[in-house]
This record gives sequence, structure tokens and C-alpha cells, in this order.
Amino acid sequence: MKHGTKPRPPAGPELHGLLAEFDSPGALLTAAERVRDAGYTKWDTHSPFPVHGIDEAMGIRRTRLPWLVFVFGVLGCVTGLALQWWTNASDSREFSFLPAHLQGYAFEIGGKPLFSLPANIPVIFELTVLLAALATVIGMFAMNNLPRHHAPLLAQERFKRATTDRFFVFITAADPKFNATRTHHLLSGLGGSAVESVAASSEPAHLPRSLIYATTIVICLLLLPPLFVAKARFTKSAEPRIQLIRDMGNQERYKTQQVHALFVDNRAMRPQVPGTVARGDLRDDAHYYEGKVSGDWATTYPPQLEISESFVRRGQQRFNIYCAACHGLGGAGDGIVSQRALARDTPGWTVPTSLVNQTVIERPLGHIFNTITNGIRTMPPYGDQIPEQDRWAIIAYVRALERSQNAHLEDVPVELRPELR
Ligand code: HEC
Repeated sequence: MKHGTKPRPPAGPELHGLLAEFDSPGALLTAAERVRDAGYTKWDTHSPFPVHGIDEAMGIRRTRLPWLVFVFGVLGCVTGLALQWWTNASDSREFSFLPAHLQGYAFEIGGKPLFSLPANIPVIFELTVLLAALATVIGMFAMNNLPRHHAPLLAQERFKRATTDRFFVFITAADPKFNATRTHHLLSGLGGSAVESVAASSEPAHLPRSLIYATTIVICLLLLPPLFVAKARFTKSAEPRIQLIRDMGNQERYKTQQVHALFVDNRAMRPQVPGTVARGDLRDDAHYYEGKVSGDWATTYPPQLEISESFVRRGQQRFNIYCAACHGLGGAGDGIVSQRALARDTPGWTVPTSLVNQTVIERPLGHIFNTITNGIRTMPPYGDQIPEQDRWAIIAYVRALERSQNAHLEDVPVELRPELR
């Protein structure tokens, strides 16, 4: 049992304290009460086993450790709660002022409440217990000034029996009431079997070399695994990585064109079952997907499309992206690609057709649709880049361009005609 003794700096063979030996726990208890009543504060008792009532006899206050444990328990509880709320329920958009790697995820899915206490209890509980337990152990060591690798008492021959059959009271010279003669007198009057002085140890108080070497080696060894991990993270290797638990990381697998005896045709690659259609890919509408109505080019828009102003505006936007580079923003066939090709006398350059000339005006809608989808003569296809609906929108816009450039007075709404000059 410790009683707040602080290790004093050893300075020569000066007096460290006085040690009194007793034969029984009863004698120790009475002696402790007397020392307590004499007003000493920096002293301790030593016994081979815990003696009931010794705390009281020594006047030891209840330890403050429970408060420390309580504070850390609460800290663990709050941390557990905050951690789970932060990782589960916080929305990065609410914390946009934080650096990106500190923000939570932006949640877009799920119908369940993002934070529900019952589901979070286990982690909260575990963190509470963990921090409280660590605070108990570390706090106990720290409050007792432990670990200590050396104490002058241990050098005392008589003191060795403290672990077998003798009981001791030790008063340090650091005690404010300590006085070599008076304290000696007090201890001798307690009815013990012996009183002797303990010299402050002349041995230096630093750690034994062997311990320092051992600790250094252990720390170096502990650094090895993280070093290996760091190396593996920053270097590349053609070898497959070491997998302690293989899971499904390394399965047997076959590459395209390899032989596989399991199938009758010996092909590892399996052909599609005839008639397979990917979800949403059933293109059974020739009008919409090919621009054809009973084998001829369609002259009308597919019925599922609503030809509105916004539809034509969409077409304009797509046209300016995909077609204008060659055909020009007005469709006259004077796009910048063509202008540049002509300026450089590019051999074999075909000038893009004017989309507002009579030929194209007379082309059925389905023909233009097919031109966009598959290209025509020297014009490349754009079917892979432009979805069907946008192709139809572009056609609607091309039709608008054609009308705008071949317009008559009758095409202008009556109320706007006076504005024309
Ligand atoms: C890379 C340049 C280029 C782009 C981009 C381009 N075209 Fe063409 N287009 C041409 C050329 C060149 C011709 C003339 C082809 C020929 O006569 O060999 C042509 C011809 C046409 C014709 C007339 C075909 C016919 O019926 O004779 C239409 C209609 C047409 N393009 C529409 C479009 C539309 C709509 C777009 C946008 C989706 C587009 N083009 C994008 C170069 C282009």
C-alpha cells in the first residue's frame, strides 16, 4: 500500500527513512493507528497479505480513482454516440465548411431513420467499458507512481520477509514531521521486534541498461510490420499478393477463347442464349428506333414523342454540340471544321451538305434519322453518341432551321408582322 510517497532524488548515503518490524497483523494495526495519530503523512505499511482495516488505521482517504473512471466512461459513451452519429447520420451537405475528408457521406438512398439509438447501443457500451477499463488500469499505475524499477527498501535484508511472515511500518524522511531521533523513539515505543534506518540508495535511479536495450529492440521489432505494410502500399509487384485468408480473391477462372472440358463444345466462353434481350433493350419499334414505317422512311414523328418548344430547344442544343462543327450553326454546311479543311486545301474533303437546301428539305424524317444513326457516304455515324430521342429532337430542329431560312410573310404570326421592315 502506498501513501503518497514521492521518490526523492538520491544524494549520497543520506537517511531515506525508518523501518519498524512487527510480528502480527494486530500489532501492525495498532502501530499504524499510533503513527496516524502522531500526524505523519508520508509513510506506509507492508504486509504479506491484505490486512483488514489497515486503510482506516492509516487514515487513508478513499481513492479518487472512481471519479477518473467515471469521467472516462462518460467520455467513451459520448465518443461512441458521436462516432456513430457522425458516420451514419450526418450529411456532408450540412458540414460543407469542413475539409472534404472530414465530411460524412451525402445520403441519397434508404427509407430507414439514419440514427436510431437501439442499434447503436453495443458500440456505445463497448467504448464506455473500454475507456473506463483503460482509465482504471493506467490511472491506478499513475496515481501510485508506478511502475518503479527501484526502491531503497528493497535493499534492506530484513524487509525481504515482508512477503512471508513479517509486517512493517516505514516512515520516510520526506515527511514534514520526520525527525530522526523523535521518530525513532516513536517507532521503538510501538512494541515491534526491531527498528532500523534505511539509507537512501547510492545506486543511480536510472533504468538498468538491459531493460533499455530490450525495450529498444522490442520497439524496433514492432515497427517492422507497419514498415512492410508501407512498402507494400508504395511499391508494385508482379507477384500475386499474399493472402492469409483467401476468400474468393484467387478463384480459378477462364479467359476468353480458352478451352473448358465441362461444355460439349469445349468453349469456356458461353454464347448468348438465342433471343436474349438485355433489360430495356427490346427495340421492337421500327418507327422510333430505325425511322421506318412498314419498310419505308417515316414521314412523321413517332407517336410517343411530343413535339413541343422544349423538345425543339433540346434539339437545338444537341445540334450545336454534334452537328454544327461541320454543318454550321445555321445548317448551311459552313461549320468551322469544314472552313478549316477548305482553307488548308485538304485533299478529298467533302463539303458537308447544306441542311437547308431542297434535297434535305425533301428527305423524309426517317431518312435523316438514319443519316444521324448510321452516317451517309463520307459523313460518320452518330448513333452511338446520340440517344434516339435526341436524334428525333435534332431532326425537329433541322426542320425549324429549314423553315426559318425559307420563310414567307405568311409564316410570321399576324401580330408580329408590323415589326418587320
Ligand atoms: C464530321 C462532320 C460532320 C458532322 C459532325 C455531321 N455531318 Fe452531316 N454531313 C457531313 C458531310 C461531309 C455530309 C455530306 C456527305 C457526302 O455527301 O458524302 C453530310 C451530310 C448530311 C446530310 C445530308 C445527307 C443526305 O441525305 O444526302 C444530313 C441530313 C446530315 N449530314 C445531317 C447531320 C446531322 C443531323 C448531324 C448531327 C447529328 C451531322 N450531319 C453531323 C459531315 C458531318
